[in-house]
Amino acid sequence: MHIDPAKVDAIIQRHGRKREHLIAMLLECQEEFTHLPEPVLQRVSEQVEVPLPSVLGIATFFRAFSLKPVGRYPAHICMGTACHVKGAPRLLEAFERELKILRGQTTDDLLFSINTVNCLGCCGLAPAVTVGKDVHGKLKQADVPRILKKYRPKEA
Ligand code: FES
Repeated sequence: MHIDPAKVDAIIQRHGRKREHLIAMLLECQEEFTHLPEPVLQRVSEQVEVPLPSVLGIATFFRAFSLKPVGRYPAHICMGTACHVKGAPRLLEAFERELKILRGQTTDDLLFSINTVNCLGCCGLAPAVTVGKDVHGKLKQADVPRILKKYRPKEA
């Protein structure tokens, strides 16, 4: 993946190159590049004058950050108790089968990735999943292909 250093610099500038804005900068970089590849962390480290191991420490500590590419529409399958008892493990299997990737992986076209979470805060909709910014609730395995189709580019 090509990283345009000018894009990283623009984000850093918007935050006045301030160390106290490091997390906000990294969040914006992640939004721009879908993850935090090493050249981005390196650039932030140099420009903000924070040692690379410290920047890396932040990027690995917070779950919001990913050092690996994340899909444009990350799927988060809730494995909390309410969702678990209503079939979340079977939903996870359906996502994995449909996307041909496992939990923690991203599709080659960088469209989807799969991860699990402990509660999405909408237990009344169990079993629940988010895809991108959308919440999908009361799901069955059979619903998964239809849901994913919504996010796939329309065939010409
Ligand atoms: S346990 Fe799944 S949304 Fe709360």
